[in-house]
Amino acid sequence: MTDRPMGAPASNNEGQVAYWNGEEADHWVSRSADYDTMLQAFSEEVIRAASISDGEHIIDIGCGCGALAIVASTHTPKGYVTGIDLSRRMLNVARARVASRGIANLDFLQEDAQTHSFEPASAELVISRFGVMFFSDPIASFANIASALRPQGRLAFACWQAPLMNEWFLVPCLAVARYFETLTTPQADAPGPFAFADKDRVISILAAAGFANISLESVHHPMPLPGTTTAEATDFFIQTGMGRALLATAAPEVIEEITNKIDLAIIPYLTNQGVVLSSTAWIVTAELP
Ligand SMILES: C[S@@+](CC[C@H](N)C(=O)[O-])C[C@H]1O[C@@H](n2cnc3c(N)ncnc32)[C@H](O)[C@@H]1O
Repeated sequence: MTDRPMGAPASNNEGQVAYWNGEEADHWVSRSADYDTMLQAFSEEVIRAASISDGEHIIDIGCGCGALAIVASTHTPKGYVTGIDLSRRMLNVARARVASRGIANLDFLQEDAQTHSFEPASAELVISRFGVMFFSDPIASFANIASALRPQGRLAFACWQAPLMNEWFLVPCLAVARYFETLTTPQADAPGPFAFADKDRVISILAAAGFANISLESVHHPMPLPGTTTAEATDFFIQTGMGRALLATAAPEVIEEITNKIDLAIIPYLTNQGVVLSSTAWIVTAELP
């Protein structure tokens, strides 16, 4: 990442930088094709909500391995897309994908969207697929992101609704809750996958950052876990950041038992397409005055 320019706000995202460049990057890189399958419906939702016109400059925040940015680039062949992310390893995957597909109107920046000095008023649209819930200061981050947009510039992103609305998280966690004295739902305003679950919180963050016409649409999609068996789906879950965090606090002698409990809990969700759990997100749209 480049040095922070003089006067730019300090970021407290060091923990996220370490997280998305460590084991979590290994996981997302090795499972990038699986994530693209699981999350494809949400790319389509963001693209639909974004109403892209050819020629627009689009910024994808927290673009990761680049799936959404790549789709967006096909909607603006005369414009271009910039993906921004903290993770060097995930951006390496994104860059390799772009090179192998010969895409010319898409580039990537390894930067913190909270503090990066975007070229002012240079973009018509900011999009994201689950990449905006990790900021230490969401209002400062969205105000900074807004600085990259032209007047009437648009925002369209996907973020998760509450854990109770997401079987992909809830079912494995409930299956093993009794093994953990302190298994709690994440603090509602802490950075993390569920940080934007509360509709009113999202509206107040975006309004404070200068956005208007803020709208949240509830969308539900089946979430096909990787593989064709419950064992493969369980294996995937325990490799995720959430699964690793759970197992890290478990007593070593119960880890196998915990894994078996998750496997049992997802049997009712086994279909001929593998294990399919439900997922619920907000599709958030807003625009600058
Ligand atoms: C859940 S992943 C989603 C990745 C990608 N959008 C996708 O759907 O496959 C969240 C992404 O947000 C990125 N991220 C988190 N905080 C960020 C920040 N402050 N600035 C830029 N990227 C950030 C992470 O590095 C990670 O790639």
